[in-house]
Amino acid sequence: MKISGIKRLCLIAACVHAAVAEPVVRTGLDVLRGADYKQLQGRKVIILTNPTGITPEFDLGVDVMASSGKVNLAGVMGPEHGFRGTAPAGGSEGTFTDEKTGLTVYDAYNANTSTLVGYIRDSGADTVLYDIQDVGARFYTYTWAMYDTMVAAALSNVSYVVLDRPNPITGLNAFGPVLEEKYASYVGRRPIAQAHGMTSAELARMFVGEGWIKDAAQGANLRLDVVPMEGWKREMAWEDTGLPWVMPSPSTYANPSNGPAIPGTGMFEGTNLSEGRGTTRPFELLGATFGNETWAMHMRSLEVPNTNYRFACFSPTTSKFESETACGVQTYVSIPDQAGYEAFDPVYLGVALLSTAKQLYHIPKNGTAFEWLANTSNRRQFNIDILAGSPLIREGIDAGLTPDAIRASWKDDLAEFKARRAKWLLY
Ligand SMILES: *[C@@H]1O[C@H](CO)[C@@H](O)[C@H](O)[C@H]1NC(C)=O
Ligand SMILES: *[C@@H]1O[C@H](CO)[C@@H](O)[C@H](O)[C@H]1NC(C)=O
Ligand SMILES: *[C@@H]1O[C@H](CO)[C@@H](O)[C@H](O)[C@H]1NC(C)=O
Ligand SMILES: *[C@@H]1O[C@H](CO)[C@@H](O)[C@H](O)[C@H]1NC(C)=O
Ligand SMILES: *[C@@H]1O[C@H](CO)[C@@H](O)[C@H](O)[C@H]1NC(C)=O
Ligand SMILES: *[C@@H]1O[C@H](CO)[C@@H](O)[C@H](O)[C@H]1NC(C)=O
Repeated sequence: MKISGIKRLCLIAACVHAAVAEPVVRTGLDVLRGADYKQLQGRKVIILTNPTGITPEFDLGVDVMASSGKVNLAGVMGPEHGFRGTAPAGGSEGTFTDEKTGLTVYDAYNANTSTLVGYIRDSGADTVLYDIQDVGARFYTYTWAMYDTMVAAALSNVSYVVLDRPNPITGLNAFGPVLEEKYASYVGRRPIAQAHGMTSAELARMFVGEGWIKDAAQGANLRLDVVPMEGWKREMAWEDTGLPWVMPSPSTYANPSNGPAIPGTGMFEGTNLSEGRGTTRPFELLGATFGNETWAMHMRSLEVPNTNYRFACFSPTTSKFESETACGVQTYVSIPDQAGYEAFDPVYLGVALLSTAKQLYHIPKNGTAFEWLANTSNRRQFNIDILAGSPLIREGIDAGLTPDAIRASWKDDLAEFKARRAKWLLY
């Protein structure tokens, strides 16, 4: 990042030159801005973004583009939690006019393809631009908002541009089950691994390159351009990038420290235990009214590398067990080096937490304590299978398999995914 440079501080008599810390990584947005938005010249742009689409100076990309006068902006699309991030989980802001820029903000959360095609048409855009920070977990809905708008762009015969950002848990490796098409949903539409180890631009390249967009867009091709980062390396953890962190949703990933666990602990959404929503440590604190200190002890005895566990009780301000006292574990993940990231399997951690919780707290044929949550109108459709993109985790745990045996059940699919993803990597 070259814009901040040297700042001159003048103190009464003396002027000192103070070096401003420069991020090591320039995001796609910084690269685009640094090139004076040349890639968007002559284009009319609708942007899918949220509060994570910022510059290193903490300014929102849309605001910077609008005030530059160099980008012809046609509108904004807001994903889950909205464009300026004011909506709760599973919510969005509706369609409205943004006060600051005067742009129309369309509600893209869970919008079907025909609605998205309508937004593109109404805005008059010829290009859809995407700039959202990912977390590296397949069930994060922003990835699929990108996918759906790519399909809509193909159907509308407009171009698509992805401004890339780091995968905050590195791009070294991939873990977990690969989604089976039968379990496709808004938390996973295509066969990628649960912890994919890719960036948004790499995923977009894969979606096009594997023919998935064309297939979903009735044979229409998408013209995709990506603006890669400069200076990012696959082994970089978030702290190595020098970039400021913005929490990508109100309850997920409040700080980068719980990031590596999310592709695993996120699966607790598929149980009736609290995944820590309504606390200041979501996806780190897990528990229920029936939890106790035995769970942390069981987890410690499994010796999952780079992790430790603390018996913890908490009272969520919202969501499951609101205003009740839930007890369980706080999971600590501490990864010291590149080799640690290469080997750290967040899905294995999630499986270990789920299986120990079920062993301890499930009362067979009773329906109290630990339960897998199911679709209320279809009791055989389990939320955990939708999140994991496969029944392997639930079935393995129900059959009493060890976490190692469960992980072995997707070994071949994962190896195939890794070979497939190699073609689309940019760094
Ligand atoms: C898409 O969503 C809109 C708004 O909810 C709805 O009116 C429309 O029927 C849907 N179209 C399809 C093809 O499902
Ligand atoms: C799609 O857009 C391209 C570029 O703007 C144009 O050349 C082409 O004719 C369009 N195709 C259709 C089917 O509208
Ligand atoms: C924790 O709860 C489980 C399940 O109810 C029970 O089997 C176990 O004995 C409890 N541990 C302690 C220390 O009370
Ligand atoms: C379920 O377990 C609770 C607590 O052990 C017990 O009080 C209750 O009778 C059980 N219900 C059934 C239907 O077995
Ligand atoms: C979940 O846990 C609660 C105990 O807090 C229990 O009453 C409930 O029946 C369980 N099952 C489901 C499906 O929520
Ligand atoms: C629940 O099942 C019903 C009936 O099969 C289905 O229409 C609905 O989409 C399902 N809900 C979710 C959230 O998957």
